[in-house]
Amino acid sequence: MISIKSGREIEVMKESCKMAAKTLHFLGKNLKIGMSTEDINQMCHQYTINRGGIPATLGYHGFPKSLCTSLNDVICHGIPSSKDILKDGDIINLDVTTIWKGFHGDTNATFFVGQVKPEIQKLVNVTKECMLAGIAQCRPGGHIGDIGAAIEEIAHANEFSVVHEYCGHGIGRVFHEEPQITHFGKRGTGIEMRPGMTFTIEPMINFGKRHVRHLDDGWTVLTKDKSWSAQFEHTVLITESGYEIMTTFSPDDWTAEDENL
Ligand code: MF3
Ligand code: CO
Ligand code: CO
Repeated sequence: MISIKSGREIEVMKESCKMAAKTLHFLGKNLKIGMSTEDINQMCHQYTINRGGIPATLGYHGFPKSLCTSLNDVICHGIPSSKDILKDGDIINLDVTTIWKGFHGDTNATFFVGQVKPEIQKLVNVTKECMLAGIAQCRPGGHIGDIGAAIEEIAHANEFSVVHEYCGHGIGRVFHEEPQITHFGKRGTGIEMRPGMTFTIEPMINFGKRHVRHLDDGWTVLTKDKSWSAQFEHTVLITESGYEIMTTFSPDDWTAEDENL
């Protein structure tokens, strides 16, 4: 069952999504070489609860932290740790999910730490392009397969690979709900998009092969070939005329209060 959100539900969910987007922006601005991923976790936790939100990942199926921090060859679901220190040349994905008034907002981005190798900068830039191309396919009457096809085309044209095991997802009162949004696929196939649907698009793109391996912590997903991996994520609403990115805010909406923990 795919839930269609009402106008009232959408208004609240836009607030949740804006809160997640601002939190991610704050964390990105405050990244520093020498910081641990646990330091980032603590900032995320405080920033969220200080504004009356709830970090959705904390305790979700037993996940122990308030966001996912995925460094270099970690594809997704990295667990913040005081042992993982940011160093010059790293890339790190921060995946923030906020619950506000019962609704989830889910967004992530990959950040550069210091000076990153040009070929890795390209991986990150292409991954963002893949996410945006997937989003650009969204419209009522379009198919979920259109999204994956657009993402795959760009990744493959750049000789990168698309992770198959983890997908975008419907989102609302429930963190992960139907439909599944695969980041590969065939145009014109899969579920038809309808106004009021809300889901994430969150491609994971690998520099090398697409295959994954897991750490025995039960969460961390890495590339099998140890190549580096990037990801970007937005929560999107299907509207009557197309789509809206929900996990965003306009620059004049960033105030002095947003600068502080
Ligand atoms: N935020 C992730 C997503 O985009 C999910 C993280 S679930 C966790 O769907 F348990 F790993 F935190
Ligand atoms: Co998500
Ligand atoms: Co996420």
